[in-house]
Amino acid sequence: MQKLKVLVLGSGGQLGKELKYNLTKNVSTIFFDKEKLDITNYDLLKNKINNFDPSIIINAAAFTNVNKAEENKKEAFSVNSDAVGFLSNLIAKKDIWLIHFSTDYVFDGEQNLKYKESDVTKPLNVYGMSKLSGEKKIIESCCKYIIFRTSWVYGEYGNNFIKKIVDIAKTQKKISVVSDQKGVPTSTYLICRIINKLIQDISMDNFWTPGIYHLVPNGRTTWFEMAQEVARIASDESVKYNFKNLIIEPISNNRRSNEVKRPRNSLLCNKKLQIKLNFTLPNWNEDFLPFVIKYIRNN
Ligand SMILES: NC(=O)c1ccc[n+]([C@@H]2O[C@H](COP(=O)([O-])OP(=O)(O)OC[C@H]3O[C@@H](n4cnc5c(N)ncnc54)[C@H](OP(=O)(O)O)[C@@H]3O)[C@@H](O)[C@H]2O)c1
Repeated sequence: MQKLKVLVLGSGGQLGKELKYNLTKNVSTIFFDKEKLDITNYDLLKNKINNFDPSIIINAAAFTNVNKAEENKKEAFSVNSDAVGFLSNLIAKKDIWLIHFSTDYVFDGEQNLKYKESDVTKPLNVYGMSKLSGEKKIIESCCKYIIFRTSWVYGEYGNNFIKKIVDIAKTQKKISVVSDQKGVPTSTYLICRIINKLIQDISMDNFWTPGIYHLVPNGRTTWFEMAQEVARIASDESVKYNFKNLIIEPISNNRRSNEVKRPRNSLLCNKKLQIKLNFTLPNWNEDFLPFVIKYIRNN
């Protein structure tokens, strides 16, 4: 049987690299980082898709710097919305599945419950607005799409909060961490596992209803609690850095100078995805613990 062909965009990023190394080997793949294929270059994008003729496109390319998006609105929208719109219109005519990623930042975080896929969106910042606009363009195109909204992504490849905390703790005795934003960290490892399952289902004609799915593990935490957990794991794991005496001070996001508005509740309800998968997603600390241990040991 001929293998399914999967084309991955944005393969130089945190998630893109995870996919590059851990995507199922049961498919033929082609990976493009920004250097090889800028998704705002429509002619090249069209050309690469026509040449490879994939059954699935995974779009891990995005303008993800929340602070920079405020001053670079045009660029953020160009990558997160316009190019996504072009891509989805192009593939709608070709019967190709699009697997795309969006964010908890499409919500304003003012509700107390976890956000469901059907809850009202109301982004607080340019990044969130550009990602929401991308979602809408995909839906309007009527292509076959799965949008995974995820939150607080971390992984082996790329910069993330956990790495920052460990690195700061090497040189500082006290750090301040935001304690009034709740959410859940999602590992690129988990995202890749779910994508592999989706690809397997597509290859076996096991139908997924096109739509938005919240892809996050179970549980909840705050940045402050996560920093405490990093310090706890690190002090058990290594005497090299003085994690035991590290003072972690809780602060409000409002106290951080020049901060872009972020939702205070980033919790996404993952029930729809769990029902589709027919298994319970792990608790966030199941992937978190081995990740932190590995990072501490290697650094
Ligand atoms: N990181 C998070 O906490 C988080 C949370 C929720 C949702 N998400 C979503 O998850 C997805 C993956 O995020 P990530 O953490 O892997 O982000 P990332 O590490 O910033 O990766 C995004 C990649 O896209 C590339 N890119 C930017 N503009 C491009 C363009 N015009 N053409 C092609 N590639 C381009 C970036 O290259 P350069 O770096 O060279 O610009 C980068 O390699 C994104 O859709 C993001 O919105 C992320």
